[in-house]
Formats: sequence, C-alpha cells, structure tokens
Amino acid sequence: MALWGGRFESKTADAVFALSRSVQFDWRLAPYDLASSLAHVKALKENRLIDTKTSTKLTKALKELMVEVKNGEFLPKADDEDVHSALERGLKEKLGELGGAIRAGRSRNDQVATDFKLFLLDNMLNLAFKVCELNEALADKSKEYVDAIAPGFTHLQHAQPISFGHELAKHCAALNRDLERIKDWYQRTDLSPLGAGALAGSSLLISPGKSARELGFAGIAGNSIDAVSDRDFAAEALFIMALIGVHLSRIGEEWTIWCTSEFGWAKLDDAYATGSSIMPQKKNPDVAELARGKAGPLIGNLTGLLTTMKGLPFAYNRDLQEDKELVFTSIDHLLLLLPPLTGMVASTRFDRAKMAASAPEGFSLATEIADYLVRKGIPFSQAHEAAGKCVRICESAGKQLHQLSEQELLGAHPKLDGGVKKFLDAKGAVTSRTSPNGTAPKSVLKQLTALKNSIRRDRKWISNESKRFSGMMSL
Ligand code: ARG
Repeated sequence: MALWGGRFESKTADAVFALSRSVQFDWRLAPYDLASSLAHVKALKENRLIDTKTSTKLTKALKELMVEVKNGEFLPKADDEDVHSALERGLKEKLGELGGAIRAGRSRNDQVATDFKLFLLDNMLNLAFKVCELNEALADKSKEYVDAIAPGFTHLQHAQPISFGHELAKHCAALNRDLERIKDWYQRTDLSPLGAGALAGSSLLISPGKSARELGFAGIAGNSIDAVSDRDFAAEALFIMALIGVHLSRIGEEWTIWCTSEFGWAKLDDAYATGSSIMPQKKNPDVAELARGKAGPLIGNLTGLLTTMKGLPFAYNRDLQEDKELVFTSIDHLLLLLPPLTGMVASTRFDRAKMAASAPEGFSLATEIADYLVRKGIPFSQAHEAAGKCVRICESAGKQLHQLSEQELLGAHPKLDGGVKKFLDAKGAVTSRTSPNGTAPKSVLKQLTALKNSIRRDRKWISNESKRFSGMMSL
C-alpha cells in the first residue's frame, strides 16, 4: 500500500517501485515501528488530536498487530513499499480509514530514524552481551594458563618469555574497550527523533519528550532538521562493529597459527573444527578463519555508509534508505560469529610443554642479562651491548645463553659474573615482571580480577538497559 498518490495522475512505473521498495529488508524494524506507533497514539490522545475511543481502537489494533507480526501471521505484501506502509495497511485492514488517523503529526522521516535507532540500541545491547561472553571465556582460559610459560613475540620473532595467560588476556583488554565504546555510543545515541516530523518539527505535538520517555529514550534530539538526517549513530555503530571485527580477526589469526603443525600449541575440540572433503587427515580451524575473514564486510559496511552520507544535503534524502542493510548485515555477522568463537576459545587445549620449551629459544632471555647489569649500576646502553655480545658468542658456538661459561660472560662485560645464570630461566624471567600490567602470573591474576569485575558491571548495565526492549521483541 502506498502512503501517497493524491497529486499524481498516473501510477509509478513498476521499475521505480521495485527500486524504491525497502520492505524486503526493513521489515525487521516492524516491532520497533509498532512500539513507536503506540507511543505516538498516546501523544495524539494527550494532545486531544484523537478522542479516547479512537485511541483505544488504535492501541488495541497495534497490540494485535504486534502479536501477528511476531508469529508471522501478518506479513508484508508485494505492493507494500516499506515497513511503515505495510503496518499502516495492517491498521486499515482492522479499522478502515480510522487506521490512517495515526499519521497526524508524524512523517516517515522521523519515524524511520526512530525505528532504526531503537533497533540499533536494542541490538548493540545483544552484541555487547555476546562480547561479554567471549571476554569471559578468554578470561577463564587466561586464568587456566596463567602459569604456562610461552615465548612472547615482536615482529613475529621471539622477544621475551611471557605467561600464556597474559597472552590470552591481552584480547580481553581490547574487547573491554569495545564494550566501553558501546556504552559511550549508547548514551550519545539515546535521543529520540520522534516529533521532528518531515524536518521542521510539529505544530500538533509540541511536547515530544513524552513519547520519547514512553520509548525509554533519555531525551529528544536537539534539532529537528538534523534529527531526520542524522545517521552518525549508524556510522558510529558500524565503526564499533568494524573494530570488534578487527579484534576478532586478530584472535582468529593467532588461533590459526597456533593450530599449525609448525607451532602445534593449540588443539581444537572436534566440535569447533572442520574437515576436508578430499584430505581425510585434515582438521581445519574454520571458526578462527571466519573470525579473521568477517572483518572484510564489517569494514566495508562502514565505508559504504560514510560514502553514502558524504556530501548529502540536509534533511531527509532517499539515499538514507541505503543505511539499513549495511547495519543489519554487520549486526548479523557478529551475532552469528561470536557464539562459535566463544565456544572455540573455551574448548581449546594448549600444549604447556611445547610452549615452555620454545620460550627461551631465539635468545629471548638476552634482556635479562642487560637488566642484571643495570641492577649492578651499568648504563643500559653498555648493558645492551654486552648482552648482544653474549648472543653473538652463543650463535657462533651453537649454544644457549644459560650454557655460557663464567669466562665467556666476563669476556662480554667485566661485571657480568655467574650470578646472572639464575636469571637465565624463562620462568624466572616471567615471574620477575611484577609491574601491574606485566606478565608475572601474580600481576596477571590481579588484572583478571579487575577484568571480571568490569565484565560483571557490563552485564548488569546490559540487563538493565535491555528491559525497555522486552516488549519490542526483535524479529
Ligand atoms: N523507507 C524509507 C527509508 O528507509 C522510509 C522513509 C521514507 N521517507 C520519504 N520521505 N520517502 O529511508
């Protein structure tokens, strides 16, 4: 059903209708559209623009539609243009022309912005919930392997030994920032566009604050022209999702490498691995690879929307209809990916012996020699030079640092005595790094306690905020 037509003599060309039709993807907004219509009916009644009888009828019909939409009884038809027109058809089928009363004081421009915001606020909470689950799984794994010693890398070369728990918990730090970003975005986004009308506000409904409160918004958007053309909230959400995608891709890359026979550190649970159609021996880390791959469309969707918005005149332009599929697909990618990724993380076993054995390789304890000399009052530049000499001796003699003789050590620096030997042990090196963000298991455990507390706070925030959406029910 079209919501316009009075000023046209002939019908829209089929190809034009097909181009402008959006109901095939914006139907997902139906629960939010119905919720905002309920709030709008209340506002119309309070402003005496409809009488109590009409308001009761409209409210009842909208509530019936909510159920029918949810259980799939009411669906869009081929000639419905978008979610708003389909639902108005539904009202008219129930109430006749009275169904059209709902359109007073509202335009599809403020309506779509409101629906879209509600959809995103709700779904970013769903996303935050799933990020918390992954964060928790990583934190638990980190605790399990806090005393496992592994090589730490820079430039993908052995650098210094670390606690493998510390290695895993670094991902939690990144996901924590993602959660902070969602909370921060949520606050900025939580302003209602309803009442902005086509662009100029409304002479009929002059206190939009009431319907905003009804929908759980913290306030109303400050400028009606901006309110109907602002899609910053969608672009920011796409950025947050793209960055989550980047973080997940780094997890995916690590897991993939750790599963190779060259590394052989990680063993995937059968439930989280896949086979090959031709090579019977294969056990592939497809979950990790898809985590790595999905960053592609997630970043693409962000650049897609920014490009659509660039140079767009104010206020509403039909270009803005292109915003939805990008956001929907980003949300879908992440909500699909996070649960199996969490399962993969939670069920992976790591080979402690193999990691520990390779921890001192690549002379990764050379810094210990330099630090030993610094503690003896030698300037770091000289200490660094001496430790470098030790590495050179080892390389030409084909031995490890802890195998150097006292004579060889003293040859590298007169202050470098045998006392250094007790530091030339990966476990000792790890345990000694007790700075608050350092790799000593004692420090990592403290970091994990703080992390668990912040996840608990995030979960509480999510469950409080989600209450406002319980009646809207995502499709
Ligand atoms: N389907 C449209 C969209 O998604 C709804 C708003 C239409 N407004 C208009 N003035 N044609 O943007």
